[in-house]
Amino acid sequence: MSKILVTGGAGFIGSTLVDRLVSEGHEVVVIDNLSSGRRDYVNPVAKFYEIDIASPGIFDIFNEEGFDLVYHLAAQIDVRISMNNPKHDNSINVLGGLNILENARLTGVKKFIFSSTGGAIYGDATEIPTSEAYPTYPLSFYGIHKLTFEKYLHSYAQVYGQDFTVLRFANVFGPRQFKGGEAGVIAIFIDNAVKGVESLQNGDGLQTRDFVYVDDVVAALSRAKEVKYQGEINIGSGIETTLLDIRRDIGKALGEEMKVKEMPAKPGEQRRSCLSPKKAKEVLGWEPQVFLEEGIKRTIAWAQSNNR
Ligand SMILES: NC(=O)c1ccc[n+]([C@@H]2O[C@H](COP(=O)([O-])OP(=O)(O)OC[C@H]3O[C@@H](n4cnc5c(N)ncnc54)[C@H](O)[C@@H]3O)[C@@H](O)[C@H]2O)c1
Repeated sequence: MSKILVTGGAGFIGSTLVDRLVSEGHEVVVIDNLSSGRRDYVNPVAKFYEIDIASPGIFDIFNEEGFDLVYHLAAQIDVRISMNNPKHDNSINVLGGLNILENARLTGVKKFIFSSTGGAIYGDATEIPTSEAYPTYPLSFYGIHKLTFEKYLHSYAQVYGQDFTVLRFANVFGPRQFKGGEAGVIAIFIDNAVKGVESLQNGDGLQTRDFVYVDDVVAALSRAKEVKYQGEINIGSGIETTLLDIRRDIGKALGEEMKVKEMPAKPGEQRRSCLSPKKAKEVLGWEPQVFLEEGIKRTIAWAQSNNR
């Protein structure tokens, strides 16, 4: 059993990870400022601190708790917000993260696991599916800040011997993603569809993304603590999915076609995105288990049973 900190543990992926770590028998502590997370998503067995990752109070928590392992998931995750306010995004995704990392180092945390992005870090890649070796030229400030933090981890490993692993997630989907505002396209489409409300589709619907189910992502995060690998690992399905595929599978699961209004394409939107899961298989022994159709069914079941 280890004592584990999960930052962002009230969020979509973080709270699902906390459930898994608790079920594995670990002692889990959550740090989250509830800016997009929900208190009721935090497993009751976990200890909860409502605090900003950039706060000086983080020092006291690290000192008192003495963590073996840190999962750093707290982040500003909205690409559009990062474009409108890059300094704000930097203050959370770089400086806030650095506050967590520095305290981890000072208190002898054995390993630091970081949730980076595979969807926003490679820019418009010509290699599809994209491998970790592909050059990183992010289009968004969100992507730049995630990449910057990865570089800090490399530096901390070389200078201080701080062990780490970076997982670069594709587009994650599943229960708890929709919180009434911005979310992934699957969460928004499903929320609208179960309420019988029209969804908006930008562009021709043939743009692609790589969707990976939240339980699979959490399985990869759990594996990352068992292996020694200081570098980046893509966590994706290797499958390109179009918006039209998503509409089809949601319609199939609900027994009626989704109501969709087609809008002009968004300028600057990436046309294709898909990550190679080869390294994840080699290093983590990880492969996705839940594919689009089944993941959509499970997410719809959750959306229907939750009065949000
Ligand atoms: N969802 C995806 O498709 C996806 C893809 C790639 C990477 N990621 C990464 O995975 C991680 C989790 O994302 P998610 O989808 O669960 O998002 P989320 O918004 O549900 O979770 C983020 C959590 O961090 C908390 N938080 C934000 N700013 C904070 C701060 N300053 N101090 C303390 N807590 C703060 C929020 O309240 C929330 O609970 C993020 O690091 C994100 O960049 C997500």
